[in-house]
Amino acid sequence: MGPSLLLSLLLLPASLQADSSKECNPNTDFGINQPASLSAPEGGSTCIFFSYFHCWELAKDPRLSIAIKRRDFHGEVIYNSTQRFIHKDYKNRISLDLRQGQNSGTLCIQNLRKEDENRYFCQVQVETLRDGKKVWQSIPGTKLTITEAAQMTTITKGPTTTVTTTTRDMNMETMVKVALPVAMFKTAILGLVVYLWWKRSKEEKSQWLSLE
Ligand SMILES: *[C@@H]1O[C@H](CO)[C@@H](O)[C@H](O)[C@H]1NC(C)=O
Repeated sequence: MGPSLLLSLLLLPASLQADSSKECNPNTDFGINQPASLSAPEGGSTCIFFSYFHCWELAKDPRLSIAIKRRDFHGEVIYNSTQRFIHKDYKNRISLDLRQGQNSGTLCIQNLRKEDENRYFCQVQVETLRDGKKVWQSIPGTKLTITEAAQMTTITKGPTTTVTTTTRDMNMETMVKVALPVAMFKTAILGLVVYLWWKRSKEEKSQWLSLE
């Protein structure tokens, strides 16, 4: 999101210049932008942001239709905004937030499964004023990678972690058990040395006193 935003900001002045210097060609100047790749953990969710552009004059009722395909350019449709169609593999897990005024939208897939790992293509369809129905689609699509769930990792490594923790706790306990007597022993030795030194100096002092 960050780099793409930066990129669009960098490209903004150039596109404005292009718009003012030359006419938009309806036959070539259309397309769809969507991220090249995304990755999300299993059980998590992901959103594919897409935006489209064209320069046809739209019909009074443009009947904008957004469809999402998977696997490849001619792959099966998994979502159709006009039919309100959702492929059975994504039932209750897909939602599309369309921002018609901004020529963009966001497709979100929740509760991700390993099988969701695929390539997703956005297709736009509109009714134009003079050129009939126009349909265009992203060519590279978005490659979605499903990573191992963080929760799953914890569960898998659970017993090991527990053992490690216990061992560490035991070590800590042992260290305390050992460290405490050692400290007490050191204190006792130090006390003895100080006492002996004090006693000797006192004896010496008394010796000197008796000598005087
Ligand atoms: C989506 O549904 C509309 C309306 O039925 C249809 O015209 C359009 O071709 C469909 N899109 C795809 C990609 O199947």
